[in-house]
Amino acid sequence: MGICIFINVPYSYSQDNKLQSFTPKELWADNNGVHINAHGGGVLFDNGKYYWFGEHKIAGPKGNRAHVGVHCYSSTDLYNWKDEGIALSVAPEGSGSDIEKGCILERPKVVYNEKTNKYVMWFHLELKGQGYKAARSGVAVSDNVIGPYTFIRSGRPNPGIWPMNVTEEEKKSIDMSDKKAPLRVLNKYIETGQMARDMTIFVDDDQKAYHIYASEENGTTQIAELTDDYLSHTGKYVRVFPKRYMEAAAVFKRNGKYYFIGSDCTGWKPNAARSAVASSIWGPWEELGNPCRGKDSNITFEGQSTYVLKVQHGRPDSYIFMADVWRPDNAIDGRYIWLPITFKNDKPIIQWKKEWNF
Ligand code: DGJ
Repeated sequence: MGICIFINVPYSYSQDNKLQSFTPKELWADNNGVHINAHGGGVLFDNGKYYWFGEHKIAGPKGNRAHVGVHCYSSTDLYNWKDEGIALSVAPEGSGSDIEKGCILERPKVVYNEKTNKYVMWFHLELKGQGYKAARSGVAVSDNVIGPYTFIRSGRPNPGIWPMNVTEEEKKSIDMSDKKAPLRVLNKYIETGQMARDMTIFVDDDQKAYHIYASEENGTTQIAELTDDYLSHTGKYVRVFPKRYMEAAAVFKRNGKYYFIGSDCTGWKPNAARSAVASSIWGPWEELGNPCRGKDSNITFEGQSTYVLKVQHGRPDSYIFMADVWRPDNAIDGRYIWLPITFKNDKPIIQWKKEWNF
C-alpha cells in the first residue's frame, strides 16, 4: 500500500546508498525504497535507536481515516529509516471496537515507562462514522518498542474534575453569546470528561508525563498529568492559551524551560506556527510568536507541527522541528518537514532549509 519510488539524488546519498541529509517536503524513502508512512508522528529514543511512530495513511481522499493503524520505523542516524511494520493495528471492520477500521486515529505518541517497563502509546481518537465529534484520547501498551501494541481504552480526560486554574467565576460562566465559547464547552463536558483532539505527550526529567491536547472545541489547550504508569489521568490539569485555538502541539524542555510549538486551527490548510515558553509545565505560558523564518514562514513552510525531537546521538542542544505537509486528497502522499531549531535570546527559531544535515 506504499508509494514505490526510486529516488536518485546523488548529493543526498553516500556511496553505500545511505541518505546523508534531510530534504524537507521531498519524498523520503525507507529501507525498502517506499515513502515513509508515519504522519502526525513522534519519535522515541530507546536503547540507542530512534523509533518514529505515525499515522499510516492510504491513497485517496478517504486516506486520512485509520484503515491500517500506527506505523513504526527505526533509525540510528535520523536520515535512514527501517520499516518496523504496524505497531498498533486497527480492529477489524464490524468488530465494534473503538479503534475499528475506518475510525480516525491521529497523532500517536509513544513513551517508555521506567516503572512498569512498558511502552505506552497515546493518540487522538474519533469513533467511526462520527466525524470529529467524539474528541477522545486512546491508549495502548506493549512490552516491545515496535509492538504489537494492545489497545486498552479510549475516553475523555478527567470526567467530573475541574481544572486546577479555573476560577469560581469561570465555573459559573455559561457564555452562550460567544459562538466559539470555550468556557461554555468546559462547563458542558465537566461530567463526561474534557474534549481532547490534537495531542502530544511530554515526559519531564522526573519521569512525570503530561498529556497536552486541544480541548473545549479546540478553543483552549489543556495540560493534564498522567498517572505513574502513564495509562490514565491523575485529575490534575490546567487550561492554557484560552480562546487561542491552538492545534498540533509539540512540547519540549531546554535549559529548564518548557517550550510549546503549535499552530492555528484551519483544518488541513497550513497556517502560521506559534511558540510559547514557560518555567513550569503548568504555566503561565508566554507566547513568543511565529518561530518560522524564510520562504513560506507565514504558513509553516506549508506544514503543521507534530513533534520536537531532541537529538540524542552526541549532539548536545540539538532539537529538530517535525511537521507534516498534509495532502488531504491523497493522504499517503503527505510529506515531512524536519528542520533544526536554533535559539535566539532563548526564543526558538526555525529557518527554512531545502536540504541540511548535522
Ligand atoms: C488539523 C489537525 O492538526 C490534524 O491532526 C487533523 O485533525 C486535521 N486538522 C483535520 O482537519
